Amino acid sequence: MARRPFVAGNWKMHTTLVEARALMKGIREHLSPDLAVDVAVCPPATLLYPFGREVDGTAIKVGAQNVHFEPKGAFTGEISPGMLKAAGCAYVIIGHSERRALFGEGGDFLRKKVIASLSEGLEVIFCVGESLSEREASETMHVVERQMDEVLSSDMDSSRLTVAYEPVWAIGTGRNATPEQAQEVHAFIRGKIGSIFGAEAASNLRIQYGGSVKPGNAAGLMACADVDGALVGGACLVAEDFVSIISAAAASVGG
Ligand code: PGA
Repeated sequence: MARRPFVAGNWKMHTTLVEARALMKGIREHLSPDLAVDVAVCPPATLLYPFGREVDGTAIKVGAQNVHFEPKGAFTGEISPGMLKAAGCAYVIIGHSERRALFGEGGDFLRKKVIASLSEGLEVIFCVGESLSEREASETMHVVERQMDEVLSSDMDSSRLTVAYEPVWAIGTGRNATPEQAQEVHAFIRGKIGSIFGAEAASNLRIQYGGSVKPGNAAGLMACADVDGALVGGACLVAEDFVSIISAAAASVGG
């Protein structure tokens, strides 16, 4: 059976409450409630609490863009998995390349975040992806494998895990991976999931593609056998574009 696609919008550091309400209104107006796609929006942390309540009972879930692994304590500026859960979050993005590159996150630090988030009952979108120089040096698979090995292990609950393949050179650049490039890495990731968690997990786990996904390229990417949805940045800030990407994901499984 085909995996149910999963499309998440990473709003990054965009929108105040007023702007965000207008965007959410637009998404809800355009989104058909019976599409066979899981949908999440990941707004800035200040909006998680109101949106966690407002989306209750709708087809949209809320995710956070970051989390700290400690449950509480003297960690100025940080937010724990339990706090996210209490604010109404279902998902959290961990290991986004902007967190890796701009805030020095990686390895064991990300692993602790994944463990703490899963044990709090959150679903994790774990991001991996190579830089342009790594791709040009033919190191893509090596980098992705290392990023997965550093963080994932067989004792984790893979049923609450999504992997997002986001080539760094495609994020915010308007230069997306071709469907062939995406499929090649997604198939590799699925194989790696199989070697960590086993064959059943590999066939069930959803792998999103992220990096300049737009309405014009979504159908081609979503049609790939191992692409199960998208993690969308820029295009998710325009309601019609985000919904059009969700529709492309639904169409890829005949929904
Ligand atoms: P983009 O961002 O769609 O703007 O390239 C994707 C992401 O960073 O998740």
